[in-house]
Amino acid sequence: MKGQKLKAPSMKNATVFDRNLEEALDARRAGQNLATIHTWQYATDFSSNDFLSLSTNGLLRTEFLEELARNPNFQLGSTGSRLSDGNSSYIEDLEKEIAEFHGAESALMVNSGYDANGAIFCAIPRPGDVIVYDELIHASAHDGMKHSLTQKQLPFRHNDPECLRDVLTDLEDSNPLIRKGQRCVLIAVESVYSMDGDVCPLKELVEVAKEIFPKGNAQFLVDEAHSTGLMGEQGRGLVSSLGLEKIIAVRLHTYGKGMSATGAAILTNQTVRNMLLNFARPIIYTTAPSFPMLAAIRAAYTLLKTGKTEPLQQRVQHLVKHFYKAINSNPHWNDITKAGVCTIPLSEDWETRDFITQFVPVWTREKYNYYLTIHLQGDRFRAIPISPPVVPRGTGRVRIVMHAGNTEVEVEALAASICRWAKEMYDIEKDTSGIKLPSAMHQMYELMSAADMKITAPSASSGNPFLE
Ligand SMILES: Cc1ncc(COP(=O)(O)O)c(C=O)c1O
Repeated sequence: MKGQKLKAPSMKNATVFDRNLEEALDARRAGQNLATIHTWQYATDFSSNDFLSLSTNGLLRTEFLEELARNPNFQLGSTGSRLSDGNSSYIEDLEKEIAEFHGAESALMVNSGYDANGAIFCAIPRPGDVIVYDELIHASAHDGMKHSLTQKQLPFRHNDPECLRDVLTDLEDSNPLIRKGQRCVLIAVESVYSMDGDVCPLKELVEVAKEIFPKGNAQFLVDEAHSTGLMGEQGRGLVSSLGLEKIIAVRLHTYGKGMSATGAAILTNQTVRNMLLNFARPIIYTTAPSFPMLAAIRAAYTLLKTGKTEPLQQRVQHLVKHFYKAINSNPHWNDITKAGVCTIPLSEDWETRDFITQFVPVWTREKYNYYLTIHLQGDRFRAIPISPPVVPRGTGRVRIVMHAGNTEVEVEALAASICRWAKEMYDIEKDTSGIKLPSAMHQMYELMSAADMKITAPSASSGNPFLE
């Protein structure tokens, strides 16, 4: 909390260099929104991307150590860019293994998913091509698009095949080169969206694109960051689970989430792989992935291939369903949702869905997301508040993430804690005595005033900088 205290006004004697930077940081502090980093020691994890709990359950550590033992003379660093000294038979073999596992023609390893999206969008779209993207795609795709050679980048409404149809139809009408099949439309989507917790209707989107561009000049780029290890047989991802391996031009699998490693692989054909190696600056101008990183990825794939992660995949599904049952059966939940204090849209029709994602977004009124997060922290649960512009203005969200390593008892306690807070807010809204804040906020403000900090409510316009 001390990090949110304004700094620049007390820096009269500092250099202009530091003062200007602190002024920029103060703009965030003023909205109680300066990103700070923590180590979480005593809170139950309902926030990290360690979906399968591989980073803590020991399975991956054991497999990783065995992979190191199988390669006793490994070279620690890759010592250069992939195009100079950074290549090795180890990385080439791993790429073949990954491509085969996912049913792709080839794979290309990249240092991170962020770099991979930078590479994809900088190298693949050619001048005159158009990118059409789901409005909720990740910041790394947006950053990548800024470096692409396309002039036109058009959003379509989240997960909405009819909106995609409208955007593609307009493009077909207005762009003769695309209509004639001489330029391409690249459609960028994610398999699972972490803010809404929903799954891309990829089959329907593919059908729409085929219908409007039968010459095959509409191609898909699918980011499988949140489905890798979790969705489909042995965690192969959405594209494989739908049997679309031959249809989707480019897939991105990232390894920092469900696989508990780091890095990413781009799955595609040899032509695109060559384009990436020749034109993707985030691949060319950087040191190639190192052996320990690749060994961790290979170890994670060994777990996938030997079926050791399948019970963990099932466990995540079970726990999310358990949470939905627990919250729906709380005696206050109906009143709370009816009053609009908070809702969990995904909890309403979960029984009709074949696949349940690990994400449970709690939709709240504006600012309530901070109140709920602070309340949850008081109950020793880790969850992340999401604010505009990441979610629509006038709303807030708390993103809860389930992990294979969570227990039923923790999940029930989490549901009860959310309901306790929401009932308190419900009562506050009905109360005419002027009380506006829940008890967790009072406690926090008392701590802040003890620390001599200026008290302001969390800013409505403040986003969550590390999630934008
Ligand atoms: C959808 C999506 N794509 C790409 C990335 C970036 O992946 P990485 O963390 O490996 O850089 C993320 C992670 O934040 C993501 O959520």
